[in-house]
Amino acid sequence: MTSIIWYPGHEVLLKDVARAEGCYLYDSGGKRYVDLESGVWCTSIGHGHPRILKVLGEQAARIAHNGFIYSSSIVEDAAREMLALIAFDGGNLVFLCSGSEAVEYGVRVTRMITEKPLLMTMADSYFGAYGSAWRRDETEWFSFDWSSCEGCPEGRMCDTTCEHWAAIPFERIGGFLFEPGSSSGLVRFPPVGLIRRIVGEVHRTGGLVQVNEVTTGIGRTGRWFGYQHYDISPDIVSMGKGVGNGYPVAVTAFRPGVIDRLDGRPVMYAQSHQNDPLGAAVAREVIRVIEEDGLVARSAGMGPHLISGLEGIKARTGRIRAVRGRGLLVAIEMEDGPEEALTRQALRDLLDRGFVLARRSGFGILRVDPPLTIDLEDIEAFLQAFEKVIGVA
Ligand SMILES: Cc1ncc(COP(=O)(O)O)c(C=O)c1O
Repeated sequence: MTSIIWYPGHEVLLKDVARAEGCYLYDSGGKRYVDLESGVWCTSIGHGHPRILKVLGEQAARIAHNGFIYSSSIVEDAAREMLALIAFDGGNLVFLCSGSEAVEYGVRVTRMITEKPLLMTMADSYFGAYGSAWRRDETEWFSFDWSSCEGCPEGRMCDTTCEHWAAIPFERIGGFLFEPGSSSGLVRFPPVGLIRRIVGEVHRTGGLVQVNEVTTGIGRTGRWFGYQHYDISPDIVSMGKGVGNGYPVAVTAFRPGVIDRLDGRPVMYAQSHQNDPLGAAVAREVIRVIEEDGLVARSAGMGPHLISGLEGIKARTGRIRAVRGRGLLVAIEMEDGPEEALTRQALRDLLDRGFVLARRSGFGILRVDPPLTIDLEDIEAFLQAFEKVIGVA
């Protein structure tokens, strides 16, 4: 009997992790596990990273928390560094505590600026645990189902000759909230041409483009941000998860000029920990480590290795329906039935062999999203274990 209210749909398989270091978890019996899910995509540079531990200790000893009445210079310094990372120098930024908040804050600002009834998004995107983007009320949201765009014939244009495109009510849409690739954990990537057309149209009508980089950002997809695979210029970038490496900090950044469009109207978002020095210091150190250690390039290089290994297993075993991924954001869709027996069993058998993966329930999907610091030997060991575990059909 547990006293904890756990999130439904996932069994807590490892009940007593005693410590974690780098890509490894150790249970209370001393058994080692390779963490291939980064604790819900969060530990981008590995558990207990020495530089993050140092910043946590030093900053907490100086000052951890601001009120609304006082601040400290680290917050401004960190904001400037984060804005420079996305070439938003001279723009504005807020530090928050979760990805859900980072998305919601940008949504509120977009609605305040554009004053149009709808925001557009992709029907299969996920944005967080609460707020307007969670509710997806159709009086506030136009959700576009892009599934038919995947098989769209080469050369076909996104224009009014396409019934799907023609149904988008751009005149009522004030913004586009785009999640570049995770799709509620299914790891699907909307087509580049479609996204570029939507962004072009939203900008042409004075709207704002917000990218939700909570999962796809901070090097996960082999670029700093998932939107960079689309050659688009967003106005708002929301980050979470990996930016704190396990510490709960999130960021919403605005291109220069966006906040000016509020004409001085305040963003009413009272949250006790916004712009806390501790979160700001951690976020700044995480991006410094990723930059200095070349971890974006590492993710870009390691991802194809992992994916081609999985493709090989797919061909040899016939037990995998599809492998999808970019960088170290990878989904394995199993050849499974509605009970997802194979997926569940694979997850458990891999755990026995010392590998922690995530399962996206309802879709027969295993996810592999290790820290960007993972090395080749651990990936090879996982691939070997995975092939043994799922065997030959
Ligand atoms: C794509 C995406 N956006 C937003 C969120 C919300 O982030 P958080 O759980 O930190 O609130 C999540 C969480 O899984 C996510 O996957």
